[in-house]
Amino acid sequence: MKELIKKLAASHSLSISEYERLVKERNDEAAKLLRRLAVETRQKIYGNDVYVRGLIEISNICRNDCYYCGIRRGNKNCERYRLSPEEIILCSDEGYELGFRTFVLQGGEDEFFTDEILGGIVRKIKARHADCAVTLSMGERSFESYKFLKDCGADRYLLRHETADPEHYGKIHPSSMSYENRVKCLHNLRELGYQAGCGFMVGSPFQTEKNLAQDLKFIEDFKPDMCGIGPFIPHKDTPFKNFSAGSLELTCYLLSIIRLIYPPVLLPATTALGTISPTGREQGIMSGANVVMPNLSPVSVRKKYELYDNKICTGEESAQCRECLSNRMKKIGYKIVTSRGDVKK
Ligand code: 5AD
Ligand code: FES
Repeated sequence: MKELIKKLAASHSLSISEYERLVKERNDEAAKLLRRLAVETRQKIYGNDVYVRGLIEISNICRNDCYYCGIRRGNKNCERYRLSPEEIILCSDEGYELGFRTFVLQGGEDEFFTDEILGGIVRKIKARHADCAVTLSMGERSFESYKFLKDCGADRYLLRHETADPEHYGKIHPSSMSYENRVKCLHNLRELGYQAGCGFMVGSPFQTEKNLAQDLKFIEDFKPDMCGIGPFIPHKDTPFKNFSAGSLELTCYLLSIIRLIYPPVLLPATTALGTISPTGREQGIMSGANVVMPNLSPVSVRKKYELYDNKICTGEESAQCRECLSNRMKKIGYKIVTSRGDVKK
């Protein structure tokens, strides 16, 4: 194991079977070594800086029906909402005052957000706050749509690949969705000049260690600017309600590996990680992550953007959420910085 880890740290590459072994045969000692190397690697590029992104959950209306997701179309118990363009702009203004220089507009695949409407929102945010980056996380769209939004000023796009195994992809998504289109979208985003982010859930139903190895190889090949990984957490109104959640330990282990695969990657300690453990995000940072994403959505809608059960930060005002994370980072020796926080390639 030690040899394998050293090889990864030196060459940033392993074969799928080597990645699989790294996951299967993991132990405390391996985790400790990976963590130390990952933190050293991140330190060299980003120091003790942790970037913040203001997350605005703009709509929980979604045309898709992913089996794991609480806002899937088929969930009749989900109380739907959509923020108006004015409300979204207001959130970004409030975020700007709080020091945020990156806004992430995230939502389901809601047909209301046509290119004109979404593009108009991006344009307005960029016009009001020229020094900010706008990240979109609005699912699969056409090449032309991604191009239009880029021309409106969008800088980054998050689209988790969810799993790099087409067969596994088919087990957690309805047949109307495909792995091929997912990956095509990621390549289109890259080609259009977006900083592009992929990612996956740890411990999603039917996921094998081989699947995780495939995810790691995918990341090694794609070299994403951002990579969102967090534990799967069941949602009570989904077909996967009886599956168990992914683990904190494995998620942190994978965060360390991903830092070593692609040292400059912007790697968030996700809300899902903070949901499965009260110190999840802190442990994520101490394993090699370097981004946190406090919630900027209006408090009135936060509980409704429930991708999984017991999501944290749903009661706090934006300012409180930001404060809370600053304090948490300070306590573990890190410092939140309020720059755009672009990838340092
Ligand atoms: N548990 C954890 N993460 C989830 N996501 C969706 N549903 C869940 C869940 N039940 C993740 C998906 C999606 C991102 C926005 O949230 O990976 O891409
Ligand atoms: Fe819309 Fe999962 S159902 S992202």
